[in-house]
Amino acid sequence: MTAPEWMRHEGLRSWVAEMTDLCTPADIHWCDGSDEEYDRLCQELVEAGTFIRLNPEKRPNSFLARSDASDVARVEERTFICSRTEEDAGPTNNWMDPKEMHEILREKFAGSMTGRTMYVVPFSMGPLGSPIAQLGVQITDSPYAVVNMKIMTRMGRDALHELGTHGEFVPCMHTVGAPLAPGEQDVAWPCNDEKYIVHFPETLEIWSYGSGYGGNALLGKKCLALRIASKMARDDGWLAEHMLILGVTDPEGEKTYVAAAFPSACGKTNFAMLVPPKNFSDDGWKVTTVGDDIAWIKPDDEGRLRAINPEAGYFGVAPGTSYSTNPSAMESVRSDTIFTNVALTDEGDVWWEGMDGPKPDHLIDWQGNDWTPDADRKAAHPNSRFTAPASLNPALDEAWDDPKGVPIKAFVFGGRRAGTIPLITQSFNWAYGVYMAATMGSETTAAAAGQQGVVRRDPFAMLPFAGYHMGDYINHWLAFGRKIPNPPRIFQVNWFRRDEHGRFLWPGFGENMRVLQWIVARARGRALAIESPLGWMPRYEDLTWDGLDFSEQDFFKCMAINRRDWTNELLDVEELFMKLYNRLPKEMEMIRSLTTSALWRSPKNWEMNSDPT
Ligand code: GTP
Ligand code: SPV
Ligand code: MN
Repeated sequence: MTAPEWMRHEGLRSWVAEMTDLCTPADIHWCDGSDEEYDRLCQELVEAGTFIRLNPEKRPNSFLARSDASDVARVEERTFICSRTEEDAGPTNNWMDPKEMHEILREKFAGSMTGRTMYVVPFSMGPLGSPIAQLGVQITDSPYAVVNMKIMTRMGRDALHELGTHGEFVPCMHTVGAPLAPGEQDVAWPCNDEKYIVHFPETLEIWSYGSGYGGNALLGKKCLALRIASKMARDDGWLAEHMLILGVTDPEGEKTYVAAAFPSACGKTNFAMLVPPKNFSDDGWKVTTVGDDIAWIKPDDEGRLRAINPEAGYFGVAPGTSYSTNPSAMESVRSDTIFTNVALTDEGDVWWEGMDGPKPDHLIDWQGNDWTPDADRKAAHPNSRFTAPASLNPALDEAWDDPKGVPIKAFVFGGRRAGTIPLITQSFNWAYGVYMAATMGSETTAAAAGQQGVVRRDPFAMLPFAGYHMGDYINHWLAFGRKIPNPPRIFQVNWFRRDEHGRFLWPGFGENMRVLQWIVARARGRALAIESPLGWMPRYEDLTWDGLDFSEQDFFKCMAINRRDWTNELLDVEELFMKLYNRLPKEMEMIRSLTTSALWRSPKNWEMNSDPT
């Protein structure tokens, strides 16, 4: 039970001792992060029935886990920001008095690990030693969380070494909340009906109770790298964002890095791994991945924005992933991958809706039941995921692991919107871009428990992830841009607009390269645009159409600005602004007014308005 000799941090030692007394585990394991440890834990998970080892010929060193049917996604209603005052958490977060919450958690955690092993998991978010990285230590009774953390972070001995004797770390407490009585038989996916995902932004602590799934349990990800880090970032003048980072190499070999925020299950992994259409790649265009979910961004000495991906793997949405939509993701999951809640084929491989080829005649669905194509239910859960190491991504950027980070030239914001929002718009300036991001709406997805497909405001794709008042968050972005001599340009995209029959108007995926090419050119001051009431927009002839049959009429449908839709949109924005009012920067209300008058005073048959009403 004693700490290993390579553990020289007194603060960590005493915290672990205190948590041991509280949670009363049967055993303690300090994770060294080695491959042997990973293999052994995976084997133990197989023996415990949590993991199924997939057919080594089809999917080497890979596993399938099926969660409890009640534990399949983030739980936003049970996620809390416990700042000292309710006002600091803001109206978009759940809040409870920190003292009161600590009392509840003490009670919940008391004896919570009885009969289980407690794992101590030191990890670095970001390349070891990077000036932008942060260290954390997760204590958990879930070996499933441990092996996922091994893929998703730089975990183990090296991180502990980095911590030294007095280094700072974010303590991350996690239990599935399912103590075992002596002799009690464990279940494959232990969890608790009651869940608490709790953040204390002033003391920089995380306590997560009752869930073993994704962002609820892999505490380096959403809890540390977004909710806690967003608070750190505001205090210290940087940004912690729900953004992918990609590099675009043009035919001359010039590299441009772009960071893009989309809400959960709205296309970050796909955009980060974009494979350009053939005629683009033949010309020498290339897209490479730095990160697919989170970006930490700091200004360097010359005032350029440097971004790192704090993660080391991908916790990606499985359904919809195929060789035709995302070949790099398919390559990344060919081996050494943990799959959760996908279907199992008779050959011992994985399957999900949207995978290439015909539906198999028989599967075991994500709940372990027989499934045939005539079943009127999905074989894989809509939020089923793969956990794959970044190193397996064939499009990995050469600088993905660079402690200095990569220089960001453009920010892109995009929601999932069946209507209203054009395919691509560039903001007039930084403040306008902040407004665009702050007022972004998106349809809810299966990444969070609750109703799906309802449009909600999701400022900066950070609604579920901001660790403090959203009004302050918007203000931080405004102030941040003012201090940078040549801030990145800001864009808004919508890949998800639909026609009157519900079909996507835009082909998406690799074809998004056409929009990305324009973004990069604009960010470097090279492409043309015309002014619209919403911002700068490309004309049909400003994008490259080679290799795609897409008419000017098709383009207008994607780009249309419909006044009736925008009246509703602006009313919805007003509702958000009223909610945030006392901390909302005045610029936001002003830009909203400007947009309103621009929409109504521009010519009735505005150039791109396919519906002249
Ligand atoms: P999180 O991991 O939850 O943060 O999600 P994400 O933002 O990384 O989303 P992801 O790239 O995994 O995409 C989610 C779903 O949207 C998948 O089913 C994709 O197939 C689909 N999708 C992604 N990009 C596009 C696109 O350009 N067009 C269309 N129509 N669908 C897309
Ligand atoms: C998201 O929901 O944005 C995810 C998945 O990336 S989870 O890790 O569960 O938060
Ligand atoms: Mn995400």
